[in-house]
Amino acid sequence: MTAPAATAENAVWSSLPVPAIWIDGSDHIVDVNPAAEGFFNSSAKALRGEPVWDRLAVDAPLEDSLGRAREQGTALFVNDVDVGTGDRAPLQCNLQVAPLQGAPGAMMLLISPRELAGRMTQSQSAKSAAKSAIGMAEMLAHEIKNPLAGIAGAAQLLSMNLSAEDLEMTDLIVGETRRIVKLLEQVEQFGNLSAPERRAVNIHDVLDRARRSALVGAAAHMKIIEDYDPSLPHVWGDADQLLQVVSNLIRNASEAAGPEGGVIRLHTYYERAFRLRRSDGTGQTLPLQVEVIDDGPGLPEALKGDIFEPFVSGRENGTGLGLALVSKIISDHDGWISVTSVPGRTVFRISLPMVPKGAAADGA
Ligand SMILES: Nc1ncnc2c1ncn2[C@@H]1O[C@H](COP(=O)(O)OP(=O)(O)OP(=O)(O)O)[C@@H](O)[C@H]1O
Ligand SMILES: [Mg+2]
Repeated sequence: MTAPAATAENAVWSSLPVPAIWIDGSDHIVDVNPAAEGFFNSSAKALRGEPVWDRLAVDAPLEDSLGRAREQGTALFVNDVDVGTGDRAPLQCNLQVAPLQGAPGAMMLLISPRELAGRMTQSQSAKSAAKSAIGMAEMLAHEIKNPLAGIAGAAQLLSMNLSAEDLEMTDLIVGETRRIVKLLEQVEQFGNLSAPERRAVNIHDVLDRARRSALVGAAAHMKIIEDYDPSLPHVWGDADQLLQVVSNLIRNASEAAGPEGGVIRLHTYYERAFRLRRSDGTGQTLPLQVEVIDDGPGLPEALKGDIFEPFVSGRENGTGLGLALVSKIISDHDGWISVTSVPGRTVFRISLPMVPKGAAADGA
């Protein structure tokens, strides 16, 4: 087996901020990413070919479960184990092991030191933390989809000679695998979001489109009030992506309201003084304000600090990607999103930049 060639996959591999180790069918190291070089305090060159368990001391009975994961081509998650590297004191880590596609027996081992996880979210912006989580999720999604297709296919074959009673079981397998595949596709789609194509956009047109489609869909039980500043200048943005943002916010408010319904207010206004100072020292004014306000129960207390993180959801069937996508789009627009919430009043506020001087103001 050779080390990966220079490809997009390789870029993902090198950028993964958590130590990642690629091992072959007999637990020898094929390659490690730069983060793992740091973790081992040793170069990839020195590590290649070494038996992984000579270099890595894991305080958990891993061999059996790793063997099973390898045999069945499934992923394995082990939380809160002590991992040592020989010359350094063990660190508490979470481990993720996933079979490597196209290389029978090979596995990918991801090590997330718990301290590192804590430090990272504190020192880096939510944006880059979300990016790394999404990068990993994307990779896992990709890895998990293939075995799932196999499972669904096998269940369908099985179902050909089954009694009606047993058919229920295979239908269940097929139905549930479809559901997971759909979820994984959502994760992948998330990673594929392209950079916004920005032009001068009338945000009221966007709000109107979002409102109309919501009222025949997720928000059919809601009342949506328009509270617009008609003199608001155009926004510098990608209309389709902004539509996605507003639709997600309306959908969340509608889902939070429950079947009894409630009122959503779409509010736009101008606030000259809104100025964002970024951590790199640059600043920008974001005078165009769009608020989506609902009178529902408010954000669940336990989630308040984390709702923009991917996979954080307070709903039974939620994937937790809605607001992560919203925050990614807004940050790609150099904008800002904030939320205030008490029971009876939740306000998501988006602050956006004006059309830069000199840009074609075609009003599209
Ligand atoms: N307007 C709101 N009122 C109350 N809670 C909210 C509101 N908007 C979001 N939330 C909470 O934040 C969580 C995260 O929202 P997000 O849109 O990211 O994920 P989701 O709605 O659970 O799943 P998805 O949007 O991917 O289907 C929701 O599950 C919900 O608990
Ligand atoms: Mg949502």
